[in-house]
Amino acid sequence: MRYVIDLRSDTVTRPTPGMRAAIAAAVVGDEQMREDPTVNELQERAALLLGQERALFLPTATMANQIALKLHSRPGDVLIAQEHSHIVIYEFGGAAVHAGLLTVGLPGVAGRPTAAQVASAAASAQDVVDQQPAVLVLENTHNVAGGRVWPLDELDAVVAAARAGGLGVHLDGARLMNAAVALGVPAAAIGSRVDTVTLCLSKGLGCPLGAILAGPADLMEVAWRQKFLFGGAMRQAGIIAAAALYALDTHVDRLAVDHARARRLAEGWHAVGLPVEIDRVETNFVQIDTSLLALSRDDALDVLSEAGVALSPTYGHTHIRAVTHLDLDDADIDRALEIAPEALRAHLQV
Ligand SMILES: Cc1ncc(COP(=O)(O)O)c(C=O)c1O
Repeated sequence: MRYVIDLRSDTVTRPTPGMRAAIAAAVVGDEQMREDPTVNELQERAALLLGQERALFLPTATMANQIALKLHSRPGDVLIAQEHSHIVIYEFGGAAVHAGLLTVGLPGVAGRPTAAQVASAAASAQDVVDQQPAVLVLENTHNVAGGRVWPLDELDAVVAAARAGGLGVHLDGARLMNAAVALGVPAAAIGSRVDTVTLCLSKGLGCPLGAILAGPADLMEVAWRQKFLFGGAMRQAGIIAAAALYALDTHVDRLAVDHARARRLAEGWHAVGLPVEIDRVETNFVQIDTSLLALSRDDALDVLSEAGVALSPTYGHTHIRAVTHLDLDDADIDRALEIAPEALRAHLQV
């Protein structure tokens, strides 16, 4: 199917001509021998960017998260995470499969567990049985909540509660650069607050693939071994690292444009009566509550894509989302503002 305006995800972007040129010009070596200069440069730069001692280049953010779990725990331990986190609902039970962890899901608000919830989960997991809570995973921005951002003071309170409970803290910052741009702070102001952090390169940053895991040097040395165990150790990976370096130079500040376009979509759709959750729009996601339409979630997606604007389902049976990204321009947003209300008009509940 050919989508006219593809708002399904910020993962759909294709490398720009500038990024392709950077890929073509990359100086490469054997990454498994730590000899790829472009990978090494990316890792050094990413560590600084994220406010951590060392960083490791990996093929996916899922692998980064899964390796992080193993750094903070032993089989039989407990993972504590917001119940709709990527690591809980979209990583195929990897916490159990790879790290042997029992997951305790917390409700949270806007994707953010509270300090009290974390403290009580850390304590109750110890009380009820002999399980050992070992790691708290937070997500920023939170995907299923609609790209929501952690205020720094809330993050501090939750990290403090986790540390008081003896937990390591991993941040799934797949979209951490969106959070940093939305807050107007350097990425390190977020990344340095936790023990380990994931950054995805193939979302808003527009790379074809790749992710970073960053943390203390000793843990990253363990992570290097895990990278081999997961089959993620590559060879001339500099061709991808070059795309990442290019993205860090050229695609970070422009995330503000994605955020402004998401807000424009949300406000425009809301103004003409679409059930947009406008208060939730903090970054590049816009969520629509289809339970307020007279058609099912999947039918709403079909109606929209037939009209030429592709959205995607998000967790649960009611919500769909539009995600802005660098393959869109202002004209696409204008057209989506026209097309979606026209397509859904007949299905609005009055
Ligand atoms: C919050 C979050 N974490 C992790 C991932 C996994 O990223 P990858 O596809 O690179 O494994 C995603 C992908 O959508 C995500 O949204």
